[in-house]
Amino acid sequence: MKAFIFDLDGVIVFTDKFHYLAWKKMADEMGIYFDETINNRLRGVSRAESLEIILERYEGPALSQEKKAELMEGKNNTYKELLGGMTPDDVTDEVRNTLAELHNRGYKLALGSSSKNAKFILEKVELLGAFDAISDGTNITKSKPDPEVFLKAAEFLGEKPEECYVVEDAYAGIDAAKSAGMQAVGIGDAAGYGATDKKIKSFGELLTLEE
Ligand code: BG6
Ligand code: MG
Repeated sequence: MKAFIFDLDGVIVFTDKFHYLAWKKMADEMGIYFDETINNRLRGVSRAESLEIILERYEGPALSQEKKAELMEGKNNTYKELLGGMTPDDVTDEVRNTLAELHNRGYKLALGSSSKNAKFILEKVELLGAFDAISDGTNITKSKPDPEVFLKAAEFLGEKPEECYVVEDAYAGIDAAKSAGMQAVGIGDAAGYGATDKKIKSFGELLTLEE
C-alpha cells in the first residue's frame, strides 16, 4: 500500500458535532424533529442531500429552491461560527503524530472529504501542510457513497486506487471507498459496519495496520 486517504469530519477532527448543532438549530426553528440518530445519516453526504434527509420530516408547505438555498446558507453560517472557535488543540496529539509518522514511513497522505469547508478547517487547526493532496467538496460533483472524492484524491497523489487505504467514520464513506477499489478502514461509527476491510478503535492503530 502506498497512500492513506482520510475523511475529515469525525476522523481527523470532531466537527461532526458542529454539523449536528447547526442543523439542529435550523430544524428547531422550522419545527422539524431531528436527533442524533437522524444525524448519523448525514455523515459523509453533501449539504444539499443532508437538507433533503432532514426535510423528510417537514410537514409544512412546499419549499422553493431559493428557500432551500437560504436554509443551507443559514446552516453553513451557524456551522462556520462554530468552526471559528477551533484551534490546533482541536486535533489530538495522537492524530498529529500518527500523520507525521505515516509520512516518515513514506506513505502519501490525502484528504478525501465531501465538505466545502475542509480547507478552512485544516487552516484553523494548522494541519493543511500535513497532506500531499486535498480532495474535497469543491472538486466533486457527486458526494459519498459515490467514489468520486476518493478517486480524485488518488489521482491528485498519482497513486492507483488499489494501493490506497481510506480511513472513514461514515457508512457512506466506506461504501465509497469500496466502490473506488480501495481498502476501507472503519473508525468510530463505521467501525461497526460490516463492509469495512479493517476496523480500528483509535487513530494510532493505523501504524500497526500492516503488522
Ligand atoms: C462531510 C460531512 O464531511 O461534509 C457531512 O460528514 C457534510 O455531514 C458534508 O454534510 C458537507 O459539508 P459542508 O461543510 O460542505 O457543508
Ligand atoms: Mg466523516
